[in-house]
Amino acid sequence: MSLGFKNAGCQILGGLDQNCHAINTHHKNFPTAKLKLPPQDIRGLRSLDQLGLNPGEIDILVGGPPCQVFSRVGIGKMRKLGRDIESDHRNFLYKEFVRFVAYYKPLCFVVENVDNLANKEETLTKIYKAHTRI
Ligand SMILES: C[S@@+](CC[C@H](N)C(=O)[O-])C[C@H]1O[C@@H](n2cnc3c(N)ncnc32)[C@H](O)[C@@H]1O
Repeated sequence: MSLGFKNAGCQILGGLDQNCHAINTHHKNFPTAKLKLPPQDIRGLRSLDQLGLNPGEIDILVGGPPCQVFSRVGIGKMRKLGRDIESDHRNFLYKEFVRFVAYYKPLCFVVENVDNLANKEETLTKIYKAHTRI
């Protein structure tokens, strides 16, 4: 997603992912990004004021939460593996994105979507309400 935004003329300030391959690829693709974080679970980031970016510095905040619990393919796979979809922590990762939006107050935000995220009315409504409160 960062590459698409860069190609559209945006400056990429940084990225965050717990997967080392994903975040290292991001670092390689955007060597001049201000924020170069090590791989980490977003839920462990307690104070955003120590990240190195200030509120107001980000115009567009872009999030691509994992889709396994929302996508048809992901849900199918999880059912096959006997996993409990409703209690999976990935259902609630949108709260982390909302936390970033609330702190950085970007001009706008973009969340990568899959069909069932839009169908899970409750999740979309919570994201929308969090943004309109800001
Ligand atoms: C749908 S992919 C994002 C794809 C990305 N938007 C792109 O354009 O390449 C979801 C990403 O979320 C990351 N992820 C999952 N749980 C996470 C967590 N708790 N903290 C940080 N990253 C997480 C995964 O490692 C994965 O790379």
